Formats: sequence, structure tokens, C-alpha cells
Amino acid sequence: MHKPLMWLCGAALIGAAHAQTNPPTFDLAAIEKGREQYHRTCAQCHGRNMVNAGTTVYDLRRFPQDQPDRFTQSVVNGKGNMPSFKEALDMQAVQALWAYVGSRGGKEP
Ligand code: HEC
Repeated sequence: MHKPLMWLCGAALIGAAHAQTNPPTFDLAAIEKGREQYHRTCAQCHGRNMVNAGTTVYDLRRFPQDQPDRFTQSVVNGKGNMPSFKEALDMQAVQALWAYVGSRGGKEP
């Protein structure tokens, strides 16, 4: 008597979606996309290539690399004097920005 156990195993494997890793490694294409997006929407405050005095505006070169959720949260909802980008950016753009910022501008992919 054979039961269709193979079929069940297969379904379980497909169900195991690949999880997000921490600390991250970044896709070079995403970093480049993020770099462009950054210079369109963030550089006027945070500085070209994330270089600013770090006195009035957050220095993104120091943003903790292990806090992607905080990044998303702050960019989507805004924080302090930073506006929300909920309307301006889709999730893909925010992910690309994270690749750029989280990799220290591509220095630590
Ligand atoms: C109008 C100026 C302005 C623009 C444009 C801007 N920011 Fe900011 N950003 C700020 C200021 C001011 C802060 C400090 C907020 C605070 O902590 O009070 C900040 C803080 C941050 C932080 C740290 C938030 C935290 O969790 O502490 C991140 C991350 C960030 N900005 C990312 C971005 C990204 C990505 C963009 C482009 C989509 C962007 N910012 C565009 C002004 C700006």
C-alpha cells in the first residue's frame, strides 16, 4: 500500500520561502539603482554621496547596517524634520535605497 507522501514532501519544500538575511549582503544592481534614487530624492538634505557635516541632518554613513526595518520605517513614515516618502517611493525604490545606504554607498556590499 503506497501513500502519496512524496507529493506532501514536495509541497512542504516549496512552502519554505527563502528568508531575509541579517547582516545583509547587497546586490550590485540594487546598489546602483539606490545610488541614482538617492541623488534624486535624498542628496539635497543628506549630501552628495552621503557626505554632510552630520550636525543638523543624520549622517547616513553611520546608519546601523543591522537595522533595515528602522530604515524602511523612517523613510516611509518620515522622522523629525524628514518628510515621509510614502507617496513618492514604492517598496522597490526603498529597498534599493537600503542597498545603497546599508552597503555604505557600495563600499561594503
Ligand atoms: C528635507 C530634508 C530631507 C530629505 C529630502 C531626506 N531626509 Fe533623511 N533625514 C532628514 C533629517 C532632518 C533627519 C533627522 C531626523 C531626526 O532624527 O529628527 C533624517 C534622518 C534620516 C534617517 C535616520 C532615521 C532614523 O531612524 O534615525 C534615515 C535612514 C534617512 N534620513 C534616510 C533618508 C532617505 C533614504 C532619503 C531619500 C529618500 C531622505 N532621508 C531624504 C532630512 C531629510
